[in-house]
Amino acid sequence: MTDEQSILDWGGEALHIYRDEIADAWIIIAVHSTRRGPSAGGIRMKHYLGLQEAIQDAMKLSAAMTMKFATVRMSWGGGKTVVYLTRPLDVASREALLLRLGLHIKNLGGQYYAGPDIGTSSEDMDVLHEVAAPYIFSRTPATGGSGSSSIPTAYGVFAAIQATCRQIFGEADVSGKSILIQGMGNVGRFLAQLLHEAGASILFSETNPALVAELSETTDYRWVAPEHLFDTPCDIFSPCAQGGILDHSTISGLRCKGIAGAANNQLLHPERDADLLRECNILYAPDFVANLGGAMGITLMEAEGMEYEAAMLRVQTAIGTALDGIFRLAGELEIDTLDAAERWVGKS
Ligand code: PHE
Repeated sequence: MTDEQSILDWGGEALHIYRDEIADAWIIIAVHSTRRGPSAGGIRMKHYLGLQEAIQDAMKLSAAMTMKFATVRMSWGGGKTVVYLTRPLDVASREALLLRLGLHIKNLGGQYYAGPDIGTSSEDMDVLHEVAAPYIFSRTPATGGSGSSSIPTAYGVFAAIQATCRQIFGEADVSGKSILIQGMGNVGRFLAQLLHEAGASILFSETNPALVAELSETTDYRWVAPEHLFDTPCDIFSPCAQGGILDHSTISGLRCKGIAGAANNQLLHPERDADLLRECNILYAPDFVANLGGAMGITLMEAEGMEYEAAMLRVQTAIGTALDGIFRLAGELEIDTLDAAERWVGKS
């Protein structure tokens, strides 16, 4: 419920809720923090069970953005947009909705900068840019943007998997390691390629049957049926789809040694679940660290003018260094890695 207490617990600065009558949609722009700088975060566009769920998601996702930028000490804060669709939209209605969203972003006057997230693309950012410049990141290269944030996100997750391996096995090399990727979307697919090139064996789970068929034909990745997603033996489990997938019921079945993935808010009950993972001797790379590469890479390139190669390198080094520090702190203080990450970031 989005009552007074849950907004206080969230700790954010502003929650903008717009009703879009034309598309029967709701637009929620959550500005969690502008303490370090303007807020930035992606636009998630999808169906929800109801407005409460959509608002909760916007709040949680925006808070995660604050943690990402704070982890790498960048001068941005956390924000996020959720576009809650109540019915399917045709191409023209969807584009018109994007333009109306763009006006809301523009009206915030720089309090919030947008990028893509689940359900939106760089092409959508091109549309938004028509009305909301300069507050739009990650446009297509054809219109002067740096393209999809999935690429830097995947590079970052790759580095997170290496750091997790370094902690567990004593070396960062992923060759010969089995990595189970949940979700072969934009990030999952590119991540699989990077890992495969580095010699890892790839297991994957994916809900789109056409994609499963395509990958089974064209790659030597091994498909894992959804009912075995949480009990298939592997070295590293890499959640790269929706959030909230890890809780007591799924964690108790896990047969992996570490977790590092791109999904936001992987733990359903963060404190409890992080502690449980520690008890189960599964090394958890906190999601907001493992997946900060998208936001970091795009803002480095577009706001700070950094070249692509340099930005990808910086993303990987930053995530590797942060995780090394967090894992070390967790070991020294005998605490779980989420707790350690929050202390490392300086929150508590
Ligand atoms: N989807 C990105 C994330 O969750 C958000 C983002 C993309 C932010 C591009 C800025 C630029 O981290």
